[in-house]
Amino acid sequence: MPNLNSAFSQIGRGFATFLAPPAPDVIRFTVGQPNFDTPTPVVDAAIDSLKRGETTYTRSQGSEALCEAVSQHLSKFEINIDGNDVVIAPGCKQALLYSMMAVIEPGDEVLLLAPAWPSYDGMVKLLGGVPIHVPVRRPDYHPDIEALRNAVTSKTKAIIINSPNNPTGAVYTPKEIKQIVELAVDSDLWILDDMIYSTLVWEGHSYTSPTSFDGGAERTLTIGGWSKGWAMTGWRLGWIGGPSEAMEAVKTCQASSATHVATFLMPAAEVALTLEKEIAAMGDSFAKRRLMFHKGVDSLPGVEAPMPEGAFYILADVSGTGMNDIEFATRALEEAKVQVIPGSLMLGGDNLVRLSYATSLEDLEEGLHRLRTWLNKII
Ligand SMILES: Cc1ncc(COP(=O)(O)O)c(C=O)c1O
Repeated sequence: MPNLNSAFSQIGRGFATFLAPPAPDVIRFTVGQPNFDTPTPVVDAAIDSLKRGETTYTRSQGSEALCEAVSQHLSKFEINIDGNDVVIAPGCKQALLYSMMAVIEPGDEVLLLAPAWPSYDGMVKLLGGVPIHVPVRRPDYHPDIEALRNAVTSKTKAIIINSPNNPTGAVYTPKEIKQIVELAVDSDLWILDDMIYSTLVWEGHSYTSPTSFDGGAERTLTIGGWSKGWAMTGWRLGWIGGPSEAMEAVKTCQASSATHVATFLMPAAEVALTLEKEIAAMGDSFAKRRLMFHKGVDSLPGVEAPMPEGAFYILADVSGTGMNDIEFATRALEEAKVQVIPGSLMLGGDNLVRLSYATSLEDLEEGLHRLRTWLNKII
């Protein structure tokens, strides 16, 4: 067999092994997927589009109406991007990949805030780039600006940020985002801003875009999507917006690969962006779960967790249990029938476990009860 691309020997599959569907009696705190159905008006809009026969090839960057709707949506976060500079991609993940394809060349270093969602590391490596994992501060998981500055070299090309954050639940402050923009301006870096959890903020400041600060708009690609805030994970819909020149490169990435997202999904994605009541109801539910779940997790024997500010994850330190995170996750699954993600699957995540509260309140209560009973018995 001829040689494969050697990059694959260094690329993992992130959380995949710990996301495998377990036996039915296991409570899963692993999946980053809202336990809600996609709102009915969105489903109806896709069906109507299919019935109208909207099943043919269409505009590669996404329909004009949807690109415009995304531009309007972004303006709610004070992000000013023209609809012509928006591309609709098959999922936020693909949107992230396009954004990296547009700016990263082999050998370029890319700053990640560690522990970082593992797909960033894989995508950077796929493109021949070098991920540089810079630890966040503890215990609040906010950016360590000094450490980021010290990590910049002549090869640094970009920084990837994600706030609200997976896996930490941190929401970066306007001051921190401003400092990241200043750093990017000083070192002439691209900022890839993954705003997928931007509508899921539970206290304090809201999501802040790097484009709000001097020098930010010209060097930021804003990436997001419908999966988390609209309960549309399986629809595979995401967006990218940014400076026109960079977006021309992104349009080429899409035209050379996916062509476009499914034609009949676009009117549905447009409807999703108009919904308020349905989105607020999901948000209220997550906000309630967060308080209950954090109280429960933080009071487990040997476990400590800062209050998450956004998204639907808690990143807990389990070192007080005497187990490392892999042992904790493996034994929790076998002995307590609760599935969690061990943090050491991400660089900088040793002794941490990620627990998602995107599951039902009943499952959260039952899972916590099982973990408490198990830990009380063994430590
Ligand atoms: C930080 C982050 N970005 C992007 C994604 C992927 O979103 P999508 O399902 O739209 O590809 C996820 C999903 O877990 C995520 O946590």
